[in-house]
Amino acid sequence: MCSIIGYKGKQSAAPILVDSLKKMEYRGYDSVGVAMINEGGMLVRKGTGKVLEVNKNLNISGMSGMIGIGHTRWATHGGVTDSNAHPHSACNKSIAVVHNGIIENYKELKKELTEAGHVFTSETDSEVIAHLLEVHLAKGIKDALIATCKRLQGTYGFVAVFQDGTIAGARYEEPLIIGVANDGYFISSDVLGFLQYTDKAIFLDNCDIAIIDSKKMEIFNFDGTPVARPITQVAWELGEIDKGKYAHYTLKEINDQRLTVAHAAQQDEAVMGKFCEILKNAGSVYITGSGTSYHSALLFKHMLARFAKIRAETVMSSEAHDGLASVDDGSVIIAISQSGETADVLESVKVSKKQGAKILGIVNVTTSSLARISDAFLSTNCGPEIGVAATKSFTGQLALAYAVTDRLTEGKLRAGEAAEFVAAIEKVISTSQPVIEKMAADMKDVNDIYLLGRSIHYPIALEGALKLKELSYVHAEGVAAGELKHGPLALMEKNTLVILLAPHDATYNDSISNAHEIKARGATVIGISNIKDDIYDHWIEIPHLDQEAFYPIVEVIPLQMLSYYLALAKNADPDYPRNLAKSVTVK
Ligand code: BG6
Repeated sequence: MCSIIGYKGKQSAAPILVDSLKKMEYRGYDSVGVAMINEGGMLVRKGTGKVLEVNKNLNISGMSGMIGIGHTRWATHGGVTDSNAHPHSACNKSIAVVHNGIIENYKELKKELTEAGHVFTSETDSEVIAHLLEVHLAKGIKDALIATCKRLQGTYGFVAVFQDGTIAGARYEEPLIIGVANDGYFISSDVLGFLQYTDKAIFLDNCDIAIIDSKKMEIFNFDGTPVARPITQVAWELGEIDKGKYAHYTLKEINDQRLTVAHAAQQDEAVMGKFCEILKNAGSVYITGSGTSYHSALLFKHMLARFAKIRAETVMSSEAHDGLASVDDGSVIIAISQSGETADVLESVKVSKKQGAKILGIVNVTTSSLARISDAFLSTNCGPEIGVAATKSFTGQLALAYAVTDRLTEGKLRAGEAAEFVAAIEKVISTSQPVIEKMAADMKDVNDIYLLGRSIHYPIALEGALKLKELSYVHAEGVAAGELKHGPLALMEKNTLVILLAPHDATYNDSISNAHEIKARGATVIGISNIKDDIYDHWIEIPHLDQEAFYPIVEVIPLQMLSYYLALAKNADPDYPRNLAKSVTVK
């Protein structure tokens, strides 16, 4: 996904656009670009790299003018090059466009436009939008936008700027939000793009087009019919994205968990009641998500089965086509997504809704598309998460899974704000950092890591492996420890590195047997447990917990920290891992 922003107001636009793009850079960081309207006409500056670097090279914030658009790219079509960077201009250089999404029929449109004499300067799908607008501009900006949207297939949020100073945007399946400030307007893919300037937001619906010209701002649908959209007051704290004393957002967000896991238990009584009521009365339950959120779904399933005797099926959102085929009007879908904008999650929810299902959302961004289409949603309340690899949102999702299960079982789990895992997480964060930082330094030349876990620890083995892949680019694999002898044991040899999740619970003895089987093949074992065992080459201690079901939310912390410090040991950027984005709004 990319970040897009437009500004038209009374202030100098370029510094504002650069600041907004910096705040939204977690959405994509392959290239940066802006188009400004000033006394010299339309001026475009763009290049590959991250915002601060490109701004330094091209002095974007020094450009003049009070009207402009900007973009940071997460490449989908066309390599990471200056010419593929956005904005893209029409042939007559009187229109420039920034786009987030994928235009699926761009090849046929490009062929048609090229045959009509248009000259393309990039390999991207997005450039067709600028040329289509140019083709129809004689009809006026409004009709040009309508005609263009009617030709596009795929998903898009785009913002265009025209020679006369008008900015406009249109959305189909990608988020687009208008920021209403005292001295101007913003159009952005994310409230973070303008929250520093205004908390008044208008969330455009699907098939909405907005035009902001010198006189007014108007919104209409793809047929040209004016539509009214409410102004929503967005919580300022959503904009509080300062790293504070930490070197990286990821390290800050790992440390934030000392507090955020308790925040997740602070839910509105009525909303929690409605959420649980819908769940209790479900004919069938499915839990879906992508990436880290899918791993939360796996643990949530365990909690519902073990304590609330509710059978739930977990479905990876990208596999929902088949996984949710049997959904019907008695079904309830719990959709988990930090951003609430991941395309596969939204797609699976939309398909299920069409089949009559009820949607229960678990989000961190309460203004997100998922929150808005859910019948009820709960927030992990962990504040903005900027590091691309999910950390505090994951433990927030687990804390919510505990809180919901607790509610469904009249407090069987004792998972309230003061649950024992809160203190345990505080202890792990404050004690294990030096041990883990040293361990990471010793591991910097390791290429393969296997993480083993049984039962409720298996989702954590998967999550740990994902963190190692995302942050330190190491091939890491989460393995259900009970499956070891059915294949993965063949990979075990001298110096193979294995991390074993073995808290002292019902899975302990079997997990320690696995450790012996692995050691017998010469592998190196790192044990994460509340008790030491001689079989470990290295031991990462976690506190004892009376409620064994809480071990997953604690044992994941050392894995987050190990991935962070291994990234540093390998000179990788923990906040902006290569080739990834904070949430993927394209399929
Ligand atoms: C990926 C992020 O793009 O999306 C992961 O890099 C995240 O960290 C995944 O887990 C799912 O995102 P979300 O917002 O739907 O939870």
